[in-house]
Amino acid sequence: MPTLATVVDGLKLPNPFVIGSGPPGTNLSVINRAFREGWGAVIAKTVSLDASKITNVSPRYAKLHAESGEVIGWENIELISDRPFKLWEDEFKKCKDAQPPGALIASIMEEYNKDAWIELVQRCEAAGVDAFELNFSCPHGLPERKMGAAMGQNPEILEEVCGWVKSAATKPFWAKMTPNITHIEEPGRAALRGGATGLAAINTIRSVMSVNLDTLRPEPNVEGYTTPGGYSSKAVKPIALRMVMELATMIRKEFPGRSLSGLGGIETGEDAAQFILLGADTVQVCTGVMKFGYECVKPMQEQLLAFMEKHKFETLADFKGRSLDYFTTHADLVKRQTDRKAAQKAAAAAAATATPSKVVKNDAEWTGDDFVKQSDALSKG
Ligand SMILES: Cc1cc2nc3c(=O)[nH]c(=O)nc-3n(C[C@H](O)[C@H](O)[C@H](O)COP(=O)(O)O)c2cc1C
Repeated sequence: MPTLATVVDGLKLPNPFVIGSGPPGTNLSVINRAFREGWGAVIAKTVSLDASKITNVSPRYAKLHAESGEVIGWENIELISDRPFKLWEDEFKKCKDAQPPGALIASIMEEYNKDAWIELVQRCEAAGVDAFELNFSCPHGLPERKMGAAMGQNPEILEEVCGWVKSAATKPFWAKMTPNITHIEEPGRAALRGGATGLAAINTIRSVMSVNLDTLRPEPNVEGYTTPGGYSSKAVKPIALRMVMELATMIRKEFPGRSLSGLGGIETGEDAAQFILLGADTVQVCTGVMKFGYECVKPMQEQLLAFMEKHKFETLADFKGRSLDYFTTHADLVKRQTDRKAAQKAAAAAAATATPSKVVKNDAEWTGDDFVKQSDALSKG
């Protein structure tokens, strides 16, 4: 019987399914609900020291529907938590005092200020959190404060900030990467050099959902205007898989043993299996929970177990990173295909020469093409 239980960076998780930072982990009530439904860990909504600087707008979501009506893409212009940090400290503590069955992970974000990052880490640890995720990746709000993706797109700053966190944290911490960059390995490498225990990818992709053809206003429309937001849900999965593959390949070569948490469009156990096959230790779900509710973790677990049973995998480690070996360069694909076709042709030619021609039974059976072989066959009787 396979097991989903796993240990990642010392965190004992009943399963690899983690609530991704966002609305599904936005206060104690919903965090508790997630644990009750069986999530392996919860990453809370990103917190900072001074929530008074955070003002959200509404509407702040816009969705892309398939013809069937299914939501396949989701843009948000939501900021990090607008709830006071003091309240978060109390809620982290209450949550941990109740001894949840999974890990409680604080997602943190601050300005480029060493003291602020260290204070945030120390106060969250005092409240009892099990680990951290550093949000270096929110694509929309707060670039004026050099927070989120504005920081995550700068490998030098990333390395320095991870170094500050490393100097203060006694718990593991993952650096959450922005996909809004050409080579995600560069910030990933910088974060690991700075001391991050692991990486998480991806945050949302900078996007504009649509333009209303009646009003000519882009959406989501806030007082007639908009700002580019972050794209998530099913439609981003191929991009997330590619980036997870690139990070996992880099980790395997340069930082063996560091962890990777994959996310972006995960909705099923089969999606999760794909991220793990490409090197993820854990898988996170954010928009999926907003589409299907917290209980979606149950079918996801069943589907992942069914996949493991089919392949006779006992643990997640049995297949983590297995499919990374099947990536190569395009030039190598051409070579492999040319070699295979040449080998097939040679085998067919060899088979043709090896096949003895039928012995002609009467003069009508002689053919021009096979004349030599037919003559030969007659000499062998
Ligand atoms: C409405 C919304 C709010 C989000 N807020 C945060 C956040 O506060 N911190 C963070 O690190 N990521 C945040 N995210 C990003 C998600 O954690 C995740 O990286 C991204 O949505 C891709 O995964 P998904 O397709 O499972 O949602 C948010 C996403 C959504 C849709």
